[in-house]
Amino acid sequence: MSAFLPPQRPTSRHLPFGDRRDAPFYGKHIISVKQFSRDDLTYIFEVAHEMREMVLRVGSFDLLKGKILANLFYEPSTRTSSSFTSAMERLGGSVIPINEVRYSSVAKGESLPDTVRTLESYADVVVLRHPQKGAAALAAQYARKPIINAGDGAGEHPTQALLDLFTIREELGQVDGLTITMLGDLKYGRTVHSLARLLSLYDVRLNYVSPEILRMPPEILAELEEKGIPQAEYSTLEDVLPETDVLYVTRVQKERFEDPAAYEQVKGAYIITPKTMAQAKSRMILMHPFPRVGEISMDVDTDPRAAYFRQMEYGLYVRMALLAMVLGKA
Ligand code: CP
Repeated sequence: MSAFLPPQRPTSRHLPFGDRRDAPFYGKHIISVKQFSRDDLTYIFEVAHEMREMVLRVGSFDLLKGKILANLFYEPSTRTSSSFTSAMERLGGSVIPINEVRYSSVAKGESLPDTVRTLESYADVVVLRHPQKGAAALAAQYARKPIINAGDGAGEHPTQALLDLFTIREELGQVDGLTITMLGDLKYGRTVHSLARLLSLYDVRLNYVSPEILRMPPEILAELEEKGIPQAEYSTLEDVLPETDVLYVTRVQKERFEDPAAYEQVKGAYIITPKTMAQAKSRMILMHPFPRVGEISMDVDTDPRAAYFRQMEYGLYVRMALLAMVLGKA
């Protein structure tokens, strides 16, 4: 007999009481934004809206009572980790937090597949952040329960892209027709990789502003080119700021550089100040996935166009929606 047992999907025999098998995304992994259609996004955002209403009205409710989330983070996180925890707890569920894998059996050399198969023995869904591109897809090959990619190295950060898109819709009313400018570390910034792919489902124009060594990866440019999305690359922001509806700023990802001298050359390449904002449209938004390390000066925070703290809050509602969906309750 083969020692390898193929991953199993839940069957009616395994189906927990009250779960809806026909619910969109029930039992599905969330690995890449490539898996979403525009209709999927409309549905996710409708559910996120309902979550927002419920949080504003009652704070917490028992939609996921009895469900358990394993939050498995091999890399530091403040927003993704704590918003998934908050999402699960506001839905009445509970969380196994593994935010410091060095205190888990990972420190003894346990593999990612074994760690994931262990956690799914105790939990109903696993949220995974890992420094290696492709780690979430690898985990999903072995998992019977849904894996949600919370960032895989310089690969993707699909739930961040969903909340980014939700932010744009909430703040500006629509996505079609917008000019979105991405600024900073476009090579290693997984948030911009996922967001660019997701935006390619809409009628948008994309500008990429970065130092030469941090340009958007060619495979993403090629994917969007194939979909007919107008794209242009720049080294200075001034050229495109006046036409920009969404300015999406990213941190230079120090931890992904092999050569520290190269990081020193490009850190601080762009800093958004009130003077920068004076050149921007009066109706635009400034976004950042955070953490920021100086790319946006704190005296921009009071500008009503600075949407980054609202963006974090939208993340809670989107992650509540995703948990409810993969667990068959939405
Ligand atoms: N935006 C984001 O992924 O933030 P954290 O690294 O704090 O989770």
